[in-house]
Amino acid sequence: MVNQLLLVVLSAPLVYLLYLIFIQPRYNPLRNLPGPPSKGLFRDQLGMVMNPSVSPRTHEHFVKTYGRNVMIRGILPWDLRLFTLDPLTLAHVMKHSHIYEKPWQSRRLITGLIGCGMLAAEGAVHKRQRRVATPAFSVQNMRELVPLVFAKGDELKEKWLEMVREAEKETEETGGLKLDVCHWVSRATFDVIGSAGFDYQFNAIQNETNELFSAYKEMFEVAVSQQSGALWGLAVIYLPILETLFLLAITWMLYLMARYPDVQARLRAELLSLLPPTPLSALTPDEVSRLYAGIAELKFLENVIREAMRLIPPVHSSARVATRDDVLPAATPVRTRMPDGSTQEVKEVRVPKGAFIHVPVEGFNLDREVWGPDGWAFKPDRWDNLPEAVVSQPGLYNNTLTFSAGPRACIGLRFSIIEIKTFLFILLTHFTFAESDEKVGKANVVLTRPYVIGKHMAGSQCPLLVTPYVPEGAQYS
Ligand code: HEM
Repeated sequence: MVNQLLLVVLSAPLVYLLYLIFIQPRYNPLRNLPGPPSKGLFRDQLGMVMNPSVSPRTHEHFVKTYGRNVMIRGILPWDLRLFTLDPLTLAHVMKHSHIYEKPWQSRRLITGLIGCGMLAAEGAVHKRQRRVATPAFSVQNMRELVPLVFAKGDELKEKWLEMVREAEKETEETGGLKLDVCHWVSRATFDVIGSAGFDYQFNAIQNETNELFSAYKEMFEVAVSQQSGALWGLAVIYLPILETLFLLAITWMLYLMARYPDVQARLRAELLSLLPPTPLSALTPDEVSRLYAGIAELKFLENVIREAMRLIPPVHSSARVATRDDVLPAATPVRTRMPDGSTQEVKEVRVPKGAFIHVPVEGFNLDREVWGPDGWAFKPDRWDNLPEAVVSQPGLYNNTLTFSAGPRACIGLRFSIIEIKTFLFILLTHFTFAESDEKVGKANVVLTRPYVIGKHMAGSQCPLLVTPYVPEGAQYS
């Protein structure tokens, strides 16, 4: 009797596992969607949609072969996922964030990486945190940050000029210096966020030590205990991922400037039209604010930023999990297998509770059926004449998913744009950027990061040749 009981207890997990692998998927409505053929029970299909070196091609292949709502296989045999590039389906998922939550797996990853904050919270906790943080990101508060962002951008410029001078002294040669712009922009951003969010000076541009991180932790604890800081709301989120996001956004823009020298020269000419004769460091906060108001209006700068953010969104993709059974609307026909084995085109997708939805941010931004046949190219001028299909696309930022969409969309959009515009203004009016002998590629490691091709083990980096910009007839000192 005891032996029989023991046998039942021991075999129950195995029976459940067999049920999960062989029986449960048969009742999963996602099985009735078309999708890439399975290569085996334990072979997932996530790499092809998440690796930026193949994902644009995969996304396009899916749309052409299966339609815009597709079933892909996740990590375990019973993990059938909805991959969607249908604007209506995506809008429904992003809008109904109380049904479509972040999966516990990605919440745990975010929590492990950056601490438990708004990015990983759900339900009432998330609502409360978002309510607390939102006023800190008001237009007025963001405007007040402009002089600080300028000061840090100017400090970075001075640091680079100093490094160029030192290199010239050492090599006795004039010209550019190979700099990992990713690393340096990240240090400057660390300073901006430390100061804006917590009234704390890291001095990361000047002083790169391992103590930085301890200082950050100390600062965070002080901020939490005193609820101090110009932007207390920032304390509900954690710093490193924000710094990385900025890093990445500005880094990818400088990289694109190096790849497209004509665009770089045209943008510099526009920016130079606003460069005051007085050094930036001598301007009063009011003068800086007025200068930024002018920069914010620049047409080509706006187009370049929109295009770079569309083409290389730092958040490559995201995931949601259905917390209950649901029927999703679709704008495009969904080829669904019916109980009698026939296939019909319907305008809805049934998802069961627990199913993952893959949100292809980059795939959505690069969709050539929406953006036109040149949708994979870097063409800032496209923003002056967008195809009609773009206008009905969901998205917080110019019909793209770069800053997500719906109630869980990015709260830091305005802050990001201020820093990006300011840094581009200061850096492009004082330096030129060119590709170096090391070729840069993309890899998706939580975020889309730059790597030197063949040197992935060296970590994320974006080496570019940075040369002081000297207007014709002038000399830099
Ligand atoms: C270029 C820079 C940035 C990009 C591309 C970006 C993009 C995004 C994206 C795509 C999401 C949604 C993530 C998901 O659903 O999986 C998000 C959420 C969020 N972002 Fe950003 N972000 C940027 C900068 C910032 C900054 C500077 C801040 C704050 C100062 C910020 C604060 C947040 C917060 C708090 C959330 C979570 C919102 C919520 O869950 O309600 N972001 N961001």
